[in-house]
Amino acid sequence: MYDFKIQAADKHQLYRELIEAADSLTAGEPDSIANMANVSALLWESLPDLNWAGFYRNVGGELVLGPFQGRPACIRIAFGKGVCGVAAASREPQCVEDVHAFPGHIACDARSRSELVVPILSGNELVGVLDLDSPLPARFDSVDLAHCAELVRRLEGRLGDVAQLPFEV
Ligand code: SME
Repeated sequence: MYDFKIQAADKHQLYRELIEAADSLTAGEPDSIANMANVSALLWESLPDLNWAGFYRNVGGELVLGPFQGRPACIRIAFGKGVCGVAAASREPQCVEDVHAFPGHIACDARSRSELVVPILSGNELVGVLDLDSPLPARFDSVDLAHCAELVRRLEGRLGDVAQLPFEV
């Protein structure tokens, strides 16, 4: 059993420890589902005030639900739709202080008030997004964004390849 206790009071330190733990948990493991599962569990345990933490994968040009912690969520999200779909289509992180003010926000859990979504790239390919939701308004700031982007960058190549459709489109 892995037993990471990440409880630093300082937010930068918390993220530094979290990123180190995520790096060591995923090092040498080629199975991206296993890695996403462990990273979502680590985020869920380590970051306060979350109601959802997990991944959507790029499956044939559509976001499909991946490993997560929290309530059951929307399974498929089109690129450009909702916060996750905008992050996927633009390849730009989205830090949303008030999800009710975000056009097209997809309310998987009515308790969500703010959201942070970071695109995951492997080389030039978008392999998915990391999605964090909070019941608190403006839960995420530029510090969360910078460290979550660093987390995703450090794990590049371990969180998936673009899944191909089994037929031509
Ligand atoms: N709220 C997201 C959908 C995913 S759930 O929050 C897990 C969105 O608007 O993309």
